[in-house]
Amino acid sequence: MHRTVAGSILLRMASHPLVLQTEELDPAPAAWLHERARLVRSGEGDANYAALLAEADALIVRTYTKVNDALLAEAPRVKVVGRAGVGLDNIDLEACRRRGVRVVHTPDANSQAVVEFVWSLVFDALRPRLFLSEALDKKRWGETRKELRARRQVCDCVLGVFGMGRIGRRVARVGASLGMRVLYHDLLDVPVGERSGATPVSRDELLRQSDILTIHVDDRPSNRGIVNTQAFALLKPDVVFINAARGFLVDAAACADFFIKHPGATAMLDVHEPEPFGPTYPLLDIKNVHLSPHIAAATDAAQVNMSWVVRDVWRVLNNEEPQFAAV
Ligand code: MLT
Repeated sequence: MHRTVAGSILLRMASHPLVLQTEELDPAPAAWLHERARLVRSGEGDANYAALLAEADALIVRTYTKVNDALLAEAPRVKVVGRAGVGLDNIDLEACRRRGVRVVHTPDANSQAVVEFVWSLVFDALRPRLFLSEALDKKRWGETRKELRARRQVCDCVLGVFGMGRIGRRVARVGASLGMRVLYHDLLDVPVGERSGATPVSRDELLRQSDILTIHVDDRPSNRGIVNTQAFALLKPDVVFINAARGFLVDAAACADFFIKHPGATAMLDVHEPEPFGPTYPLLDIKNVHLSPHIAAATDAAQVNMSWVVRDVWRVLNNEEPQFAAV
């Protein structure tokens, strides 16, 4: 029996596993996977989404696709969920475990991007800057130079790192190299050699002593609201408070209350609950609260690194052990 070329290509494609991509992937890793599998992009609201879910052998998601029991019930063939990124809070790991679905992610893919972003926020908060687009006369020139005087130098501040994981340790190392006194708090005992020059303190001491406090605890559900009214009550009235981890770690109402009452303090918040937030978000329109749209990992390098989750997805589809398995 003769088979046409087109027919054999179709047959080969049909025998390739179907990988459903619901969010952004960098083109190079996507092309790599596309050579091996049928990689199809679709998401909630698309006409073909349910049909693709029903047929998919693997899912690749990023930050906003909720992989829970309801979704997995619609995707009975799925063997592996690839999370392009670090956080696993959008994936019900227990539901995946129960169904025998592997979960893989890229735990260090964007650490450097996040560290650099956190430090850019520190400098934004402490060091006023202005770029001139017109000539200033002598009087305005002098006034402007005075207006842009920083009240504090970074090296005179105590840096508090709440959570000494991959990112917290690197943030701490940069702080120490800038001459800061660096304190940290973590539930786990961090080996002395991995403390990046930082000193362990209790949670309350960390909150009390930090001039700059940055949150890097992980996204386990028990960390929800870990920075609550009681925590805010311990902060310095002129603290710089940074959250580039997850929005749900901070009680937004308590946070709003603190920054309204302490105009000398500054909040730099990159993550929110929900995302995107709506017009009634309690942290909107507070002069000393600065909100960015979850961009800490938004560098080309981090996006590429996260997208290489495709390798582990492919490993699982081939019954090989993945490099970074969460389940
Ligand atoms: C992560 O958890 O890795 C980030 O939130 C990823 C992202 O920015 O999409």
